[in-house]
Amino acid sequence: MREKFIAGNWKMYKNRTEAVAFAREFRKLYEYSGVRAAICAPYLHLESLKGIFDGTEIKVGAQNMHFEDEGAYTGEIAPGMLEELGIDYCIIGHSERRQYFGETDETVNRKLAKCFSTSMLPILCVGEALEERDAGKAFQVVERQVTAALEGISAEKAGMLTIAYEPVWAIGTGRTATPEQADEMCGFIRKISEKLYGEQTGEKIVIQYGGRVKPGHAADIMNMPQIDGALVGGASLKPADFMKILRYVQER
Ligand code: 13P
Repeated sequence: MREKFIAGNWKMYKNRTEAVAFAREFRKLYEYSGVRAAICAPYLHLESLKGIFDGTEIKVGAQNMHFEDEGAYTGEIAPGMLEELGIDYCIIGHSERRQYFGETDETVNRKLAKCFSTSMLPILCVGEALEERDAGKAFQVVERQVTAALEGISAEKAGMLTIAYEPVWAIGTGRTATPEQADEMCGFIRKISEKLYGEQTGEKIVIQYGGRVKPGHAADIMNMPQIDGALVGGASLKPADFMKILRYVQER
């Protein structure tokens, strides 16, 4: 049985004071509810969060990294810099990185391979844009993204992967995917994984849904058979909201 996994993605929100205040409050509220929890924060706050969450089950993730070990890449972060802080996860290929920062299937693949060579585990994001869904190409796009990202990745590594399905049209737009739409695509991602690596490995991959997951309907999403967790944006910014999502079983 796969452990459920819910990660918060703070994106470019919270200054240092706010990040520390969140972490102290969340540490007090937090109790393990059978769901693995992580916060993916801006780089600047990662060390503080690691320190405040020390001795708890709460994991800390970055939102991006470079695929090279080091070099003349102004403004970038090397994987080893994150590894040194004991960071647990790194989001790779978020749609906002693909949309605004020129990430391609190729760079996502290189980052994924690099992340697997560190002590961090990747959360690979995939998802179609609105025009792609409306043109009936959602499944084709997601299959391409997953297949390209996993090019050259061994079955052993793939078995440690988390894939977040985040339909771009349901992120910060007011439109939401129904639990059934989310479930259908997460099931499809499992099928692609099984096609690439066989059933045994495919079964191990944790598949999250992301896109306006809120405390009020987290249970509807999390109880769908193909969905193992969530990648939560806005609702991960308040400790009580994020904790409610982590306790979705009791909140039903
Ligand atoms: P929202 O939950 O704010 O829609 O963000 C989703 C997301 O992009 C998480 O990575």
